[in-house]
Amino acid sequence: MKKLLSLSLALIFTFNLCAQTRQILLETKNIALVLSVGNNQRVAQSYLGKKFSAAADYAKLSGGREVYLTAGMENQFEPAIRMIHADGNPSLELRYVSHQSNKTDNVSTTDIVLKDPVYASEIILHYITYFNEDIIKTWTEIKQGEKKPVMLTEYASSMLHFTADEYWLTQFHGDWAREVNMVEEKLTNGIKTIESKLGTRTNFYQTQTFMVSLNGRSTETEGELVAGSLGWTGNFQYTFEVDQRNGLRIRSGINPFASEYYLQPGETFKTPEFIFTYSLNGKGQASRNLHRWARNYAILDGKGQRMVLLNNWEATHTSFNEKRLVELFDEGKKIGADLFLLDDGWFGNKFPRNDDKAGLGDWQEDTTKLPNGIGYLVKQAEAKGIKFGIWLEPEMVNPKSELYEQHPEWILKLPNRAEDYGRNQLVLDLTNPEVQDFVYSVVDHLMTKSPGVAFIKWDCNRSMTNAYSPYLKEKQSHLFIEYTRSLYKVMQRIRAKYPKLPIMLCSGGGGRADYEALKYFTEFWPSDNTDALERIYIQWGYSYFFPALTISAHVTSMGKNQSLKFRTDVAMMGKLGYDIRVNSFTPQELQFSTEAVKTYKRISDVIWKGDIYRLISPYDEPRAVVMYVSEDKNKAVVFNYNTTTRRKDILSKVALQGLDAKKNYRLKEINLFPETKSGQPDNDKIFTGEYLMNIGLNLTPGRALPLTSNVYEVSAE
Ligand code: GLA
Repeated sequence: MKKLLSLSLALIFTFNLCAQTRQILLETKNIALVLSVGNNQRVAQSYLGKKFSAAADYAKLSGGREVYLTAGMENQFEPAIRMIHADGNPSLELRYVSHQSNKTDNVSTTDIVLKDPVYASEIILHYITYFNEDIIKTWTEIKQGEKKPVMLTEYASSMLHFTADEYWLTQFHGDWAREVNMVEEKLTNGIKTIESKLGTRTNFYQTQTFMVSLNGRSTETEGELVAGSLGWTGNFQYTFEVDQRNGLRIRSGINPFASEYYLQPGETFKTPEFIFTYSLNGKGQASRNLHRWARNYAILDGKGQRMVLLNNWEATHTSFNEKRLVELFDEGKKIGADLFLLDDGWFGNKFPRNDDKAGLGDWQEDTTKLPNGIGYLVKQAEAKGIKFGIWLEPEMVNPKSELYEQHPEWILKLPNRAEDYGRNQLVLDLTNPEVQDFVYSVVDHLMTKSPGVAFIKWDCNRSMTNAYSPYLKEKQSHLFIEYTRSLYKVMQRIRAKYPKLPIMLCSGGGGRADYEALKYFTEFWPSDNTDALERIYIQWGYSYFFPALTISAHVTSMGKNQSLKFRTDVAMMGKLGYDIRVNSFTPQELQFSTEAVKTYKRISDVIWKGDIYRLISPYDEPRAVVMYVSEDKNKAVVFNYNTTTRRKDILSKVALQGLDAKKNYRLKEINLFPETKSGQPDNDKIFTGEYLMNIGLNLTPGRALPLTSNVYEVSAE
């Protein structure tokens, strides 16, 4: 059976893994990962796939490929680890020593200790399984037990092995303002690499998320696939190696590019966590597994509430004053926003931040724009019944700043070459503990001075070039790794003092979005492109891995020929916010937006915490249809967007998913523009779940006009 081909059965491999003496079984509700210890004490992956119904059958599995391949001995493929010992010997052999499992109701941990028989290095493979969510999280610890430093040139988080007829890789790539474009291609023999070398905002060109379907392409509802994501806010790398026998190895981890790591005696190198699910029912199931896991275990405040905010960036850019901001509080209040977010441009005195050329690093209020400081704004906002949030970009510095003048030694730059700018700025040397203190204190001073600040947007607007750390001196190859670790150190300090403060992870758009960052950040900014047509694709791409409550989506004035309703409907599919001049709304637009915020607050629990079903992909048809269903299946929200339809396009009925076949549901079109009526003939009618999931609905009766949309609420009676 094709399905069982993902079984990594005893391939005759270059190294000899004999019949196993012991098995380590990791199981979730639907999947199993079986590791076997051979007579030679090497640990191999014998199986990854659908769980067996008869547990005794696992014992029949034997052999497989070595689970954490080393370099320098008989392995001739990409290794998971390559270690050069102090004596120059480049070999490593990992033999099983022990393992320990700890099971609870839903979360179980397994740690496998491996040791080299010749050198005193120890490797621990860590696995955490999340039973109900069908998620496995895995990472590796490399413990240095030798007397002198060793050098690591490869240090993967994990390696997974597959044997199938075909492998189809789905990847997400892009650039500024056109993030996460989805591409699927067949893997051929050799190595396909997806990686980042950007240092900071590392997701710009490639994201650290992928899916690999086995034995053919998967659809949203059918096919077996693995979907993985690395929790690392720095340079990452995946290699997909198809060997001469059509076996696939997926290696995931930090990008070892320019990052040889010198591990001191007694030091432990901990890799980032690699999170994956194995879906037996297509891509939709993979997303639902990941989303559920993310909300339950991964994202800061994943089960909490989120605020609807009004941001002033697109309305004012950096030209505003105190009076204008206070007026904007009223505008936020008018549409029912919970929070006003003051963006870039509020700081700098010697070098005021009036554009992106100056001021970064000088986090004191601009006394011309804001003579009474942030504290005054917080109080004014509170008096008007709206919360106050603020923009920071604390990892960066403009050469035109007091920080640059005072601390040239805090900046990443080559000592003997010209400075290279991105958006007129440089990156601070976060590996330096003094810089970590500085970045921490930017947040801490702000919060201590103005404890009412209720939200932070943490930006990061350039990647690393000409990077050289004055602090790391001769250890420059540690820079990319230490920078990211240092960012986490700062965030840990911030979170120890401000555990629940919502912080948006922004990076000139989608340059940062990963599950390690989301331990500290409550949401992320997917793209500076807020054109709603573009956003359908961008938010669609992110939805494969991240739940809606993490995907900030703002209604703005970008997007030619798009109605306010269309832009609002698109933003509602994520975490709704506004970044628009509310006072330029017509009375009808104002009425619509006020109602839309109310509607969103009523249905947002379904969008944020429900299960996602992507019904029609904008990559397949001139429309996108996505729905969210509450866990108890009593409530669903369906978004229908007509993208670039032409006059003769015939759009078929859409079968809903995820409902209870036996329940009766009422269909209601919501979020209509004032004085318009629903054109949906089935509006306000009752259907069984079975009917909706088998026959479906004509979501676009009449001609599907481009850039129009509908939102439907489906409620159990
Ligand atoms: C980045 C962000 C924007 C805005 C500007 C401010 O581009 O993505 O949302 O905050 O910086 O400079």
